[in-house]
Amino acid sequence: MSTKPHILVVFGSTRQGRRGDVVVDWLKDRLATRTDATFEFVDLREIPLSFFDSPASPARGPVAPEAEQWAEQVDLADGFIFVTPEYNHSYPAVLKNALDHLYMQWVHKPGAIVSYGGLSAGYRAAEQLRLVLVELKMVPIREQVGLSLVPGIVPNVTTRSDEPGGAFLDRSFNGMMTELLWWANALTPARERDREQQG
Ligand SMILES: Cc1cc2nc3c(=O)[nH]c(=O)nc-3n(C[C@H](O)[C@H](O)[C@H](O)COP(=O)(O)O)c2cc1C
Repeated sequence: MSTKPHILVVFGSTRQGRRGDVVVDWLKDRLATRTDATFEFVDLREIPLSFFDSPASPARGPVAPEAEQWAEQVDLADGFIFVTPEYNHSYPAVLKNALDHLYMQWVHKPGAIVSYGGLSAGYRAAEQLRLVLVELKMVPIREQVGLSLVPGIVPNVTTRSDEPGGAFLDRSFNGMMTELLWWANALTPARERDREQQG
């Protein structure tokens, strides 16, 4: 078994003509150079879940049969990067639904956020998402990347590293990854210990 943390990158926009692919591509480029973790990308378009309607919360009841594969993917992860746009001061309902379908698979794992949007750069979506991560007993990572897709606003995904906006973006990304992997490395053995104790 690999000792490197396995990080699942969850892309939370499924809308037609979405603009977030540019953000995911930027993140893929950044993560491709890292050897301190393994990364898997999941596009919620490929996880077709109906609106959560199980009789019990997955915290107390079984995962819905349609969410079993999703549960397996999340269960195997040691941490997450949520790539989320901002819709009406929050994050998309499709991402909330994907979170609500599971519970135990999220618990005691760190979650980092790459947000994007208009002038807000998705920071308000990220704030709301953090509250939900706490409820799922996750560790929300303070350091985040926020990208405004409004042309000319800094930071912008097209900004180069040798420009001021690019340097800011580098710092945000590196800070987020340092914290995410610190927590992933700290929590993975703790979860293993819990599993052993539970037999
Ligand atoms: C329904 C909807 C609501 C939005 N609300 C906000 C908002 O509250 N704040 C903001 O900065 N941008 C907002 N935007 C702009 C989006 O963040 C921007 O269009 C972004 O590209 C959406 O991501 P996507 O194209 O990958 O789905 C909104 C867009 C949509 C479609």
